Amino acid sequence: MPWDVIKLNDGTSIPNIAFGTWTLGNGQQSTDKVDQAISVGFNHIDTAQSYRNEYEAGIAIKESGLDRNDLYITTKYSGLNGLDIETSINNSLNNLGVKYVDLYLIHHPRLAQPDIPTAWKQMEKVKADGLAKSIGVSNFQIADLEILLASAKVKPAANQILLHPYVVGRQTPLIQYAFDNNIAIEAYSVLIPLTHQPGGPVDGPVKDIATRLDVKPEQVLLAWAKAKGVIVVTSSSKKERLEGYLAAGDIDLTPEDVNNIDNAGAIGARRMTARTVIRRAAIAALIVAVIFGICSYMGFLPSMFLLHISQSNALIATVVFFILLALKLYF
Ligand SMILES: NC(=O)c1ccc[n+]([C@@H]2O[C@H](COP(=O)([O-])OP(=O)(O)OC[C@H]3O[C@@H](n4cnc5c(N)ncnc54)[C@H](OP(=O)(O)O)[C@@H]3O)[C@@H](O)[C@H]2O)c1
Repeated sequence: MPWDVIKLNDGTSIPNIAFGTWTLGNGQQSTDKVDQAISVGFNHIDTAQSYRNEYEAGIAIKESGLDRNDLYITTKYSGLNGLDIETSINNSLNNLGVKYVDLYLIHHPRLAQPDIPTAWKQMEKVKADGLAKSIGVSNFQIADLEILLASAKVKPAANQILLHPYVVGRQTPLIQYAFDNNIAIEAYSVLIPLTHQPGGPVDGPVKDIATRLDVKPEQVLLAWAKAKGVIVVTSSSKKERLEGYLAAGDIDLTPEDVNNIDNAGAIGARRMTARTVIRRAAIAALIVAVIFGICSYMGFLPSMFLLHISQSNALIATVVFFILLALKLYF
């Protein structure tokens, strides 16, 4: 099935792929990239106060000549300059040059000040005033959603979260919770296995699937996210890649393909956890060694802490082992 729309809990529909402006910077080149995305066929633009390029996106939107109804625009309350939600949405609308956005999100739970219920009331007012067709959240965990839902008059339509194969295991309960509560999930940074963590276990199945289907690895990852029933928020500075992203909507992965990527992601996640534990142990060992060295040099060690030669050799060997292990993992 090609990229399509997903029905939100408030009756509106959202295109299930978006072009994000986070990494575009600002100025003319930013406008050009949004312009390029719209011209290849993206009709969903995802921006935020904190990306500082709503204005540039707005120029591209205006220059596209598209009818407002033919574009889906998301922006986020990022607490920029300490402004409140009401002031921020009006600033965002001015920047974007539109009368309303389709979706307005609280960028992160820590920005929901003074607390989630109070901030959500202000979001409900944004919707009631017609400044956003839909309201939602981003980076909310289950506990945050529980607090919000306990007092919400309007349910959040969507929660935009980090989702790629190396975090899918830990994000699955959150996705399930959202789906159980009829909240759509938007996935960002789906391409992390290519952009920030290449060389991991996910590379194998992604390459195999890409070869079998004669497509690019990034297309496989986008198709993987789509298969999870989420809205994909991605980006590229390159026209050919953007065309590839849109074409990825036609890739139908088998359940086995999706499982293979999930399983490889779980292996990668376990390795990362093990690395973190070893790194922390190495740092702790280093700190102990330094303290021990300083104390014994200055003669501060009480006799009960003085070690026999064999014990201190063992301590040094353990410390050196952890330091070497940490160095190997880093480089
Ligand atoms: N709500 C939040 O907190 C939050 C956080 C992060 C992001 N987001 C949203 O999500 C959007 C996308 O985020 P993202 O940039 O992290 O998404 P992404 O889709 O994971 O990565 C996009 C990047 O992947 C690169 N890429 C594509 N194929 C590649 C390949 N084969 N090898 C190496 N690099 C490749 C592209 O580089 P080229 O430009 O070179 O093609 C592009 O910069 C953001 O713009 C923003 O709108 C939201």
